[in-house]
This record gives sequence, structure tokens and C-alpha cells, in this order.
Amino acid sequence: MVAVELKQSENGVSTAPGATRFVHVQTFGCQMNVNDTDRIMQVLAPHGWAPTDDPAQAQLILLNTCSVRDKAEQKMLSQLGRLRPLKEHNDELVLGVAGCVAQQEGAALLDKVPYLDLVMGPDHIGELPTLLERMQRGERRIAETEFYKRKDFRFVEAEPRDETRVSEFVTIMKGCDRVCSYCIVPFTRGREVSKPREMVVREVERLVAAGAREVTLLGQNVNSYGKDLQEGAGPLASRVPTFSELLTAVDAVPGLERLRFTTSHPMDAIDDLIDLFGRLRTLCEFFHLPVQAGNDRILDEMRRFYTVADYRDKVHKLRARCPEIALSTDIIVGFPGETDAEFEDTLRLLEEVRYDSIFAFKYSERPGTRAEKLGDNVPEAVKKARLSRVLAVQDAITRDKMQAMHGQVVEILVEGPSQRAARGTAGQGGGGFQMMGRTRTNLIVNVPVPFGDFWNKRWVGKLARVEIVEVKANTLFGRFV
Ligand code: 5AD
Ligand code: SF4
Repeated sequence: MVAVELKQSENGVSTAPGATRFVHVQTFGCQMNVNDTDRIMQVLAPHGWAPTDDPAQAQLILLNTCSVRDKAEQKMLSQLGRLRPLKEHNDELVLGVAGCVAQQEGAALLDKVPYLDLVMGPDHIGELPTLLERMQRGERRIAETEFYKRKDFRFVEAEPRDETRVSEFVTIMKGCDRVCSYCIVPFTRGREVSKPREMVVREVERLVAAGAREVTLLGQNVNSYGKDLQEGAGPLASRVPTFSELLTAVDAVPGLERLRFTTSHPMDAIDDLIDLFGRLRTLCEFFHLPVQAGNDRILDEMRRFYTVADYRDKVHKLRARCPEIALSTDIIVGFPGETDAEFEDTLRLLEEVRYDSIFAFKYSERPGTRAEKLGDNVPEAVKKARLSRVLAVQDAITRDKMQAMHGQVVEILVEGPSQRAARGTAGQGGGGFQMMGRTRTNLIVNVPVPFGDFWNKRWVGKLARVEIVEVKANTLFGRFV
């Protein structure tokens, strides 16, 4: 439990120490949700709310949910079930569901779960204090899941957390205007809205001032950043910022060492972006470019609006511009109607591109999506077998690439103690005291350090050159040079 310092809230309501209330948030899913949880804490803090890890101590419990895959709703319902006894023992407890499942289900969720008090879509985080006030004034159960019109949506400007990390995330837009047939995101996050460029730069500046050295810009489809601002922009349209311009502006923030972004759709504004690699000092040589499948018919059914040849062309351009760039991707296996032969095409693409890493998923039918109408007709056992094959192919490629790192000297940004050190299982020379850092290409390297350096965190936040001296089970070990 971390109690925040109590201070005068922005609207002038002071909170006496005795008035501290505790909020417990459980976060599921992607980095966007993790970021939303930070904003939830941020908007509550001035109203005397402090975070707690212990649900039994909380007066407000929120589940920040994800619905991109799997039985998200089932998972949430069973988690709510586990929390129910707390509700029965404490009349004052507010139990709420936030995030994508909340958005998807809306007020219906209140009917389904009689002991639930609050359902809040991701657009409404900024209003959470007001919603709680309404409840205090007697309103018992609230569902707030209406999407704002684009022009009316307002971001909560992010402030650094107390324990700012070396590597931080900054949301630059919300929603997605793509219509990939399998995907629920357009339904749960709504239309794209870009955060004003000045706000993004300000947030990065504050994070850097608080100790961050690396920033990852976050959005469902960052490459289309700024496009929504064109709407109705009239004569100003040419002055609307593009994603490349945003990267250029963030790159100029003094003290920032590394810049990353995620996620990209292969067909949005890639060309001017490709040109920035090797040109912007902080822009890391790493690109997550989800392909989803290696077969044109499946890509068409997925409504991805590119062919394998189009995708290959992007990869070639990227590698021509920046030969050392590391690539990662997302793969879905077992999309409706995917035949064995079509699946083999995905394996072939993996062999051809030789990604540095991949995320692979079994297709999961989502309510209301276009793909739902196709029927989830690839048997679970087949999906499972395909997933294993994808992972096996990639494992071999990853292993090769890791082995090739042996003896190389690379720059890492040291983030903190390595997980191995934290677990006390390190076998390397440093007697278990190891720091963990990442290369610009996003590889994790463990480096033994003397106890004193480990204890006083001398290396945290520093850029260091290390030689890779050992490669073991997909883990790199280095030593400072
Ligand atoms: N089933 C399986 N995987 C999905 N993804 C998105 N929707 C689904 C779905 N219905 C995957 C895609 C996307 C990643 C974030 O999650 O690969 O790129
Ligand atoms: Fe979903 Fe990404 Fe497609 Fe948007 S671009 S619909 S978030 S898979």
C-alpha cells in the first residue's frame, strides 16, 4: 500500500488526513489499460484517494478490463464474484468495472451483476470524481459508456507518477478508425482522437524531468496520428501534425535518450516514417509491424487492406533504410475458414521475414465484429497445433538471432535490477547482483555489477556499452566495457 501525500485539491476542497479513502484497481490487458489505470489514480488523488494493493481495505474497487481476446467477460464475472463478499460486508464499498468490457456491455452489465455499482467506459476516466460524487449524493448505480463526439473528447493530461521509471509510456491517441474484421477495439475505444502535439511534448518533458530516459508513444494505430485533426481543418489542413512530425518534435526534448512507438498498421503513412530511422537521434531501431497472416485471402477476409506483397514491400523499405532494424509482429492463427495451406503461408512469411520476436494468438471470436458472422469454424485443437507450430518456427529464428549476438558490443539503457537478481537465482559472476537493460533493438541484457553499485542503483537510467559474453536460453548476459 502506498499512501499519497494529501494536498489541497485543484477545486479547493481540502482533504484532512483522516479523510483518506483507498482505491484498489486491477488492470487487465494492454499497455493502454495500464496507462488508463495511471490516469484513474491521477484524477482521484486530488480528491483524497490513495491506492491500495489490498481490496479489503478499499472503499473503491475497479476492474480495468480487456476484451480483445478470450473469455474476457467470463474472467471479469468470476473476478467480480470473488470480490462480492467484500461488498456484502461493506455497504460503503463502490465496486466498478472500467475499460473495454465496460464499454462493450454498458448498462446491461448493471442488470447482469446486481451488486455492481459503476460501469465506466475508457472515455470517462476524467469524470470519475464526479461520478463518485453523484453516488455520494445518493445516486446508487451508474453506467457511463456513451462515446464523446470527436470534437468533444478531452484527454486527461498525464502527470508523472511518484515512482517514474527509466522507460515510460505516453498515450498519443485513442480509438481506431480501422475496421479489421476480427477486432473489437473500434467498438470499445471508439473513433480515433489525437492528443494535441503540445500536450504530448509537455508530457514527455515532464517525464524526462522526473527521471525517464526512454518513452514509448502509445496508440492503437499511431501511424494515423493527426488524421482526425484534418476533419474540418479547412485551410489549416496542411498544418495538421503528422506522426512523423510528432516524432520529430518529441525527439527534440532535451534529456530524452530513446524514443519508441506502438502499434502500427502497415498501410498508414509508413513511408515518411521509414525515412526517420537513422535520422532522429532518439528513434530506436525497432518496429512492431503486425502482419496477422501470410495469406492474401485471409488478409482480405480480415479487412487488413494489404497483400503479402504490399507488406513485404514495407519490410524491404525499412531494412533498406535501416539494415540493423529489429522487427516484431502479431500473428493470428485459426481465423474463420483458414485452411492448412493458407496457414502454411503464414509459416513461410515468418521464415522469410525472420522477425526478431512475435506475438501469436489463436483467433478468438468477438461479439459484434464482422468476422463473427463467418463462424468460428477452425477447431480448437487445430488452432492449438497451429499456434505451437508458429511458436516453434519463431523459436528457432529467435535462438539463431540471439546466438549471433555473442561477442557483440551494444549500447543498453539500464532500467533496474534484473528479474533474476530479484529472484536471487542469477548464476553469473556478480554473485547474483545483476542489472537489466535493453538494447535499442529491444533485447534484454543482464549485466552483473558489484554489490555496492547494485545497492545504490548507480547504473539505473544510464546508457552503457556492454559486450555480450553469454547467451543462455534466450537470455543475453553482458559485461560493461
Ligand atoms: N482474436 C485473436 N487475436 C486478436 N487480436 C486482436 N483481435 C483478436 C481476436 N479477435 C490480436 C491481433 C492484434 C493484437 C493486439 O491482438 O494480432 O494485433
Ligand atoms: Fe484492431 Fe489494430 Fe485493426 Fe485497429 S488496426 S481494428 S486496433 S487490429
